[in-house]
This record gives sequence, C-alpha cells and structure tokens, in this order.
Amino acid sequence: MALIDDLIRYKEENNIRFHMPGHKGHTMEFEKLESLRENLFEIDVTEVEGTDNLHVPTGIIKNAMDRAREFYKCGHSFFLVNGSTAGIYSMILGLLKPKDKIIIQRNCHRSVFSACLLGDLEVRYINPSIDKDFNIPVSIKTEEVINILDENKDAKAILLTYPTYYGTCFDLKKVINEARKRGVYVLVDAAHGAHLICSDNLPDDPIMLGADAAVYSLHKTTPALTQCSILNVREGIDVTGIKFMMSVFQTTSPSYVLMSSIDLAIDIMNNKGKELVEKNICYANKLRNRLKNSKYCTIGLDRIGKFDIFDVDSTRLVISSDIGGILLDNILREKYKIQVEMADSKNIVLIGTMFDKEEYYDILYRALVDIQNKYEFNSKYDIFNINIDYKQRINMRSAYYGNKERIPFKNAKGRISAEMIVPYPPGVPILMPGEEITEEVIEAVNIMRGKVTLNGINDKDAEFIYVIKED
Ligand SMILES: Cc1ncc(COP(=O)(O)O)c(C=O)c1O
Repeated sequence: MALIDDLIRYKEENNIRFHMPGHKGHTMEFEKLESLRENLFEIDVTEVEGTDNLHVPTGIIKNAMDRAREFYKCGHSFFLVNGSTAGIYSMILGLLKPKDKIIIQRNCHRSVFSACLLGDLEVRYINPSIDKDFNIPVSIKTEEVINILDENKDAKAILLTYPTYYGTCFDLKKVINEARKRGVYVLVDAAHGAHLICSDNLPDDPIMLGADAAVYSLHKTTPALTQCSILNVREGIDVTGIKFMMSVFQTTSPSYVLMSSIDLAIDIMNNKGKELVEKNICYANKLRNRLKNSKYCTIGLDRIGKFDIFDVDSTRLVISSDIGGILLDNILREKYKIQVEMADSKNIVLIGTMFDKEEYYDILYRALVDIQNKYEFNSKYDIFNINIDYKQRINMRSAYYGNKERIPFKNAKGRISAEMIVPYPPGVPILMPGEEITEEVIEAVNIMRGKVTLNGINDKDAEFIYVIKED
C-alpha cells in the first residue's frame, strides 16, 4: 500500500469537487493539459542547458513569466512553486525591514502572520466587519482603515485580503488612494482572486486597481496544479528585495511540472478564461436563484452594501442553513458524493471555477433539496462569536521566542500565548503569539476541538498550550 493507492481511492469515489485545486481533477480536454499529464515524468527536469533557472531567469522561464506579466498587465510576474505562502513572505519581507510597522487585517491567513513573525515586524490590526447572518468576516470599514493609517504614520505597508475566502470584497480602490497619499505600500493577499481578471462581472483585479503587489494562488481558482501561485508587482516598484526573498523562501529545485502548469493556466485564461468564467458565474447564480425560497441562504451580489461588502465574487458559494455546516458537509459527502471546500458551524463554502460543469450545480441543487426534505433543520449546532476582541500584549516574535511554559488550555485565561492556533481551513489564526488568551478564545477553541483541524499549536487537540512564563 502506498499514498498513491489511498489517493486513487479518493479519485474512485468520483465525488463532485467543490474544492481546490481549480482544475477539479480533469483537463477539460485542453490539448496542452493532456500533454502535461502524458509527459509528467519526461518534463520533470532540472536546470540544464536550455531549461533556464527560476532564480535567474533568462530563457524559457523568463519567456513564460513575461507571458504572465502581459496577461495580468503588471510590471513584474514571478512564478511561485510553493504556493502563495512563499509569495506572501517575499512580498512583505522584500519590501519591509525588521521592526518596520505593518497594518494587517486580524483575519489574514496565517502566512501573513508568519511573515510578520519571521521579519520581527510591528503589527497593527484592523478588525474585520462580520456578516452577522453567516457569522463570517466579510469586509473592512474603509473609514476605519483611514483612521488607522492616520494613527500609524510610521506604517510602511498595509496588507489586506481581497477577496476573502467567502468571495466578499471591500473598497480596495479607496484604500489604495488613501494609502498612496500617505506613502504606504498596499500589499494584497489575493490568494482567492487569480481568476478575477477574466471577467468584468467579477470584482476588479487588485493590480488593475493600483495595488503595489498581489499574490494569487492559481491552484485555488484556475486550472493549475496544487502549489502553483504567482506574485505580481506593479510597474515602478523596486523588486530587488522581493527577488532576494524569493530565492530565500523558494526551493532551489523548483518543479518544471508546476512551472509548466502555471504557464498553461495563464494560457487557458488568456484564450478561454472569459468564456469559461462567465459560464461558471451563470451556473452559480442559477443555483442561488433556485435556492431563494428554500431553507438555505447564500451570499451573492444582493449582499453588496451590507456589512461593508463592496463587491462579491459570484463564483464562490457560501451556503448557510439551520442544519449546520459540519453536518451538511458530512451528508453531502456520504450520501451525495459532493465534497465541499470547507464547513464551519453554520456554513459550507464551495469553490466554483472555470473547470466546473453545469451538471455539478444541478446535482448539488437536487441534493440540497433532498436534504431539506429528509432532515431536521433545527439549529442544534454550537456557534461562537467570531467578533473577538483580540488583545495584543507583546510582540509576536518576542512571544514565540520568549521564556515559556506548557499549561492546560482550560486554565490559560489571562495568560499571554506563545503559540498560534489556526483552524484549517480557512487558515485564519484564532490566537497568535503575544495575544492574551481570553474567555472568548477559549470558548471558540472548545467549540472547534474535534470538529476542525487546529494547526500551528504543538498539541493538536489544544488541550495544552505554551504561554509566556510569569515571574
Ligand atoms: C487567504 C489566503 N491567503 C494565503 C493562503 C496561502 O496560500 P497557499 O496555500 O497557496 O500557500 C491561503 C490558503 O488557504 C488563503 O486562504
């Protein structure tokens, strides 16, 4: 028995995939993707005469990155072969110096926090706006961002997530204008937005709006293999530091299979992206309409204007109901062979992409109706307040490297954490080193324990935690 046999078992379940990667397990008969599959071993090469070098690109890799740059209409495009995480590290640490101040959303992905920890940055949080009906973070208040920029005149950069995991967006253009007036870099975690540029019916691409740099996970929403990502930087930004950091954080043996996959995803978007994405938007919107008078609620364009939501990526489906997300996820997988991307207490999140087929949405609709007819929708699931008042007590890096002790989590109220706790997905830390462990955090972790993977913490069940030692 080998890992591949286990994975083939998943393949043979023939589930409809509403999860990453965006190719959904097939090539859509694109000739070049078929060729990638057929030649997998033969093109898995290394740096020899004619194959160029990702870290000093002058030949075929440079040409492919130039094609990406032209497609995304930016100053520089860099291929990322270990996902967006390495791009987020390189973007932040390539433009900022240790001890610099950065403003970030408290609901950023853990890679942003990790970059701040690695770079010993001074971090100022922006709290997200919560959609109270779905109990998820969906946006930020631009007025609050402006106030924070004014209170932190020494900030070098602001890093924001656009779109969110839930497909919602804030008014990025306004933030860019305000930050630019103050000489602050605007860095965007667009891990979920690689496809936005394909359609005028989606939120605008961050670089097109004037962001200084943005990182995109091609593997999430486009037909690229897992780990394929890209870092785009606008014309006029000095990329010396970013290039250096990319050679620090990326492997010295980048996969030619992955680099080919990045190039092919861009080629497909360039030639067919608009048509495929428009179809995907129609399928998702049809499902939203069909669910209108059901027991399910969805997030769509009609949410714009509520909870500071400025725009919505219609390809992303968030479905909330009183059966609860975790149970709904289990039923969909076990009884209907539909695998969602993520479930929380209340919601399921489904990733729609340009490689979806219309039948996926019909099957999903029929399954949801069947479930609504057969099961009790009684709100008997635990829900915690995600609008947590985070208390940063000491610097993240000092906390991580500080003098610490391990104590039962249930006794940790009021102590300063030396660890992070990250429910995955979506990968937003519920606790960071340097933050006070509050009643709210303890309650949230108690609700999630056993239902969600908690990573970042030494004890995977979070029964014990390292905290700063008190004198
Ligand atoms: C918002 C966000 N940013 C960054 C990342 C990291 O991306 P990757 O998995 O490509 O490293 C993720 C991954 O889940 C994410 O959701």
